[in-house]
Amino acid sequence: MDTSSEALLDGRVAVITGAGRGIGRTIAERYLACGARVAVADVAGAEDTAAELARAHPDRVVGVPADVTDEDSVRALREAVVSAFGGVDVVVANAGVLLLRPVLDMGLAEWQRVIDINLTGTFLTCRELGAQLVEQGRGGRIIASSSLFGVRGGRGNGAYSASKFGMIGLVQSLAAELAPYAITVNAVCPGQVDTPMLQQLFVDRASSSGRSPQEVRQGLLDTIPLGRLAPPAEIADVYVYLASSLSSYVTAQSLVVDGGCQVGW
Ligand SMILES: NC(=O)c1ccc[n+]([C@@H]2O[C@H](COP(=O)([O-])OP(=O)(O)OC[C@H]3O[C@@H](n4cnc5c(N)ncnc54)[C@H](O)[C@@H]3O)[C@@H](O)[C@H]2O)c1
Repeated sequence: MDTSSEALLDGRVAVITGAGRGIGRTIAERYLACGARVAVADVAGAEDTAAELARAHPDRVVGVPADVTDEDSVRALREAVVSAFGGVDVVVANAGVLLLRPVLDMGLAEWQRVIDINLTGTFLTCRELGAQLVEQGRGGRIIASSSLFGVRGGRGNGAYSASKFGMIGLVQSLAAELAPYAITVNAVCPGQVDTPMLQQLFVDRASSSGRSPQEVRQGLLDTIPLGRLAPPAEIADVYVYLASSLSSYVTAQSLVVDGGCQVGW
């Protein structure tokens, strides 16, 4: 097996939801660098991001506008990827939103939106693209972006945490169902990753606590044993591992990548 990083995903086709920016975009960059062809799917910015990535990797990336909460849109995503690349090998269900709100203050519509995008969106992505993997009969990989808050709760995290815990139940069940087809299904549970989502959290927490975003950031850093936020690239490398032959016997797992947060000091 050629384990040089440029060859790790040679010839594979990956579809990544929520790839217009943040972690998803960085996964797309890393997959392209490792030899894959990539469909960048997002409700916003998919085509622009794909056009930017295509400058370094012409003919190996397409942008597909797709809303993971919409069944028809996810079906159209499957068709678009098959039409562009002839099939799919790796499915990354990464689209997600963060809402910080104490449970007692949370409106039903807010709760529903988080569950719709994070949990139901992951279900639709896994169902439609998973069916494609089964139909092809050549195995495959499904990787879902859960969270550190998929294995523990936290203040203000009721809806987000419920959606991310739910994803892990979905991943474990799907892993058992798709194992006979040589399809592995795993979740990645990142801690604090420096993306637009986290920057927004600093602003929101600051306005609700009377602190500055810098103070909120420092407070968070103080809880991370490694003492720093994760750049998206360090998280994306875990998705490379789970998409590559290096992880062929790994399935039904939730890989926490949090700089030691779960253990604490
Ligand atoms: N940033 C973190 O610290 C962190 C930590 C743990 C888990 N995560 C998870 O990782 C994933 C990516 O997070 P990020 O930090 O890159 O966030 P981000 O907000 O920077 O990017 C999320 C992307 O998802 C897209 N999206 C939202 N709703 C969508 C929908 N209905 N259909 C398709 N796309 C949609 C957005 O347009 C955006 O491009 C999310 O699932 C998030 O919950 C992030």
